[in-house]
Amino acid sequence: MPETASTNALAAPTPPEWAVRQRSDGCRAELLLDQAHLEKKAAAGATTFLFRVPYEATWQRGLSTLAREELVHYERTLRLLQRRDLTFAPQRQTGYAAGLKDGIGKDMPLRLVDELLVAAIIEARSCERMGLLAREFADVDRELADFYADLVEAEARHEELYRDIAVALTDAATVAERWQALTRHEASVLGALPWAPRLHSGVG
Ligand SMILES: [Fe+2]
Ligand SMILES: [Fe+2]
Repeated sequence: MPETASTNALAAPTPPEWAVRQRSDGCRAELLLDQAHLEKKAAAGATTFLFRVPYEATWQRGLSTLAREELVHYERTLRLLQRRDLTFAPQRQTGYAAGLKDGIGKDMPLRLVDELLVAAIIEARSCERMGLLAREFADVDRELADFYADLVEAEARHEELYRDIAVALTDAATVAERWQALTRHEASVLGALPWAPRLHSGVG
């Protein structure tokens, strides 16, 4: 179907300037700390879905693999922090994830579909921005550029799995409709956030 490519897209692509502003040592350190928190949350989110989606072997295996991959990303990020003498510590919330939750429908079973699609949107946004950072850091920090480039491939697969489960729980038309509403909501959440050295900050 001709609309397939656009139905998978985010509502507001990130301008390259967002990544250009992240080049300093301080920003890169903050982004790495953010990444550790994000990977840990991603692993926890995937594990929670294991208990919420039906006993379908393909989904259970897929989500289990996904959760393990996020933990591998988490450990890799922790190693990078340590190698750079950066301390893994609490970090202020950006408001991105909380803002996305406000767009989720309240009633089951569509609530679960929305939650899976929000997980897919977070993967898609992370994937897009890590791609920008990989390109932007290539000349200033090769190690970090390679790190982000490696993660991009996995996060794209994660987006696909969450979307596939959402489609299986309802149908493609419902998912397309909810994707449109939720990606528009995500764009407005990001639009209201200030720029910061965080993966899910605003562009302003
Ligand atoms: Fe990850
Ligand atoms: Fe992921």
